[in-house]
Amino acid sequence: MRRNLAPILIGGVPRSGTTLFRAMLDAHPHIHCGPERKLLAPLVRSQRQWWQVFGPSLEGANITRDTMDAAAGAYLRTLLQRSAKPGLRPAEKTPNLLLFASDLGRMLPEARFIHVVRDGRAVAASLVRQEWVDPKNGQKVPYTENLQSAIRYWGQYQLEASAQLRTMPGRCTEVRYENLVRQPEIEMKRILTFLEEPWSPSVLEHHRAGTALPNTEASSRAVAEPLHDRATTAWMQRVTAHELAEMEAIAGPVLRALGYPEVQRDESLR
Ligand code: A3P
Repeated sequence: MRRNLAPILIGGVPRSGTTLFRAMLDAHPHIHCGPERKLLAPLVRSQRQWWQVFGPSLEGANITRDTMDAAAGAYLRTLLQRSAKPGLRPAEKTPNLLLFASDLGRMLPEARFIHVVRDGRAVAASLVRQEWVDPKNGQKVPYTENLQSAIRYWGQYQLEASAQLRTMPGRCTEVRYENLVRQPEIEMKRILTFLEEPWSPSVLEHHRAGTALPNTEASSRAVAEPLHDRATTAWMQRVTAHELAEMEAIAGPVLRALGYPEVQRDESLR
């Protein structure tokens, strides 16, 4: 039977469990999901720029937006397929990729999208522990500066990504980090059905699969460990009641819309 080679594009706010999820998919015998290639967003940005600058003259020369999208898609498809192990279905995880999902969806009409979602308060508590510097200006990445900017970024990302993904019904699904680590078999079966791939128990043992985990990726050391659910609650010990209330004020509606209940912090336990 001919293998499905339609690219799988995975995104989510950094610290949502995106690296763990990509390692689990990479453990599937039909799928290659290696380290981030970071190519997709820059290509979309430059396409948008070309179109802004040259759009009118390109249309005059019979180069339509569709032609540009198809050309960019061919380029991306080649990059994704040739950097995957031969014969395997290419999957790419780059956290910010879903902020470009509409463009990518037009360029790669066969692609399937997966949004990794985690409780924004846990994500924020993890983001502020990262020492990430923006290579463009040498400054600390703004959404890692404090819990407020971290959860604000998380909320904006959820709204933007879901707005873009809604325009592609049937081509996208969401995976919750909390479900992934608590009920990995149920979640991975659902995801593999969505991807039209057969079940393989190897995805539950990503740590035995020899996935490439370079030290250029912040989560590599943690992902080398077997699956665990400790991080679903560990963050609660790192935030105060006041900080919880501040995060609630910023992202309460988005948290509730995603089904994350309000968390009460009993300071007497600290
Ligand atoms: P914490 O920093 O809260 O521990 P990402 O790769 O998207 O940046 O996500 C990082 C989060 O994935 C980390 O959250 C980490 O705990 C979690 N993670 C990494 N490896 C894991 C594993 N083997 N089992 C469960 N969670 C894991």
